[in-house]
Amino acid sequence: MLVLDGKIASKSVIDSLKTEVEALKAQGKRAPHLAAVLVGNNGASETYVASKVKHCEEIGFGSTLIRLSDTVTETELIATIDELNKNADIDGILVQLPLPKHIDEQKIIMAIDPAKDVDGFHPVSIGKLVQGLQTFIPATPYGIMLMLEHFNISTKGKHAVVIGRSNIVGRPMSILLSSNNAFGNCTVTVCHSHTPNLKEMCLQGDIIVAALGRPEFVKADMVKDGAIIIDVGITRVEDSTAKRGYRIKGDVAYNEVAEKASAITPVPGGVGLMTIAGLMKNTLQAYREKL
Ligand SMILES: NC(=O)c1ccc[n+]([C@@H]2O[C@H](COP(=O)([O-])OP(=O)(O)OC[C@H]3O[C@@H](n4cnc5c(N)ncnc54)[C@H](OP(=O)(O)O)[C@@H]3O)[C@@H](O)[C@H]2O)c1
Repeated sequence: MLVLDGKIASKSVIDSLKTEVEALKAQGKRAPHLAAVLVGNNGASETYVASKVKHCEEIGFGSTLIRLSDTVTETELIATIDELNKNADIDGILVQLPLPKHIDEQKIIMAIDPAKDVDGFHPVSIGKLVQGLQTFIPATPYGIMLMLEHFNISTKGKHAVVIGRSNIVGRPMSILLSSNNAFGNCTVTVCHSHTPNLKEMCLQGDIIVAALGRPEFVKADMVKDGAIIIDVGITRVEDSTAKRGYRIKGDVAYNEVAEKASAITPVPGGVGLMTIAGLMKNTLQAYREKL
């Protein structure tokens, strides 16, 4: 059984980005620059944004973190995005989700210039993805594809079962896996909360991508021998014995499923790290396309 270690795969992506940035700087060019907008002080969002900023520093990208209070209005947030859209020194913009309830996330996503949409959530980016055009691929599915590529996991002709159909993970994942390219060409089944026979579906999967946000939902009896398991889930589960009072759980019951799988991503240390790698690659792409 192969552990699809996100530390190893993401390091390889990050190292190649570092080399590219060094080459740009050696030519006297400025580095790519990512702006992150964080609204409020949700603990998980703070952690994700801090990690993104840290990775920018490690690669040599510039980064700007804009913190806004959770009382910010939709109009004020859109005005902030507008300034970033107009700022020629900013290549990529991400607004960390989720946003407070009084703000319409879709409106905020739509406010980002598609040329700076490094999270790949704008309808222009998703539309291009569906048509197989060059675009910003949503960072988590992109990271998963980079991981499959890194470990040379063959996908052609396989049956992939994707659990979850969100715009940021499940849906784009299903598009990528069914695309006609080296790490696509799967037959894809998309499952969701209205799928009546989920266990039977999963048992048919050569590849299972679990992206539903239900800790340890996928059990060993739902997985066929030799399946490739990609666990996207990240849920904080209270645990008084843990230092922080919680543990991070994936959507897959790792220990029992690992015994049947041919390859599996751990949580933490799997897809999460690849998401950052995908975001960083998109940022360099935004910079290059602008030039
Ligand atoms: N590793 C990373 O970098 C990363 C990045 C993004 C998200 N995540 C994690 O990935 C998970 C999913 O995120 P998301 O944003 O896609 O979540 P989401 O928007 O809540 O979507 C969840 C999807 O799962 C489906 N679902 C929920 N319960 C189900 C069940 N019992 N059986 C079958 N399908 C079910 C939902 O179906 P309906 O459509 O019918 O409601 C929905 O399509 C979360 O744990 C999130 O924290 C991780």
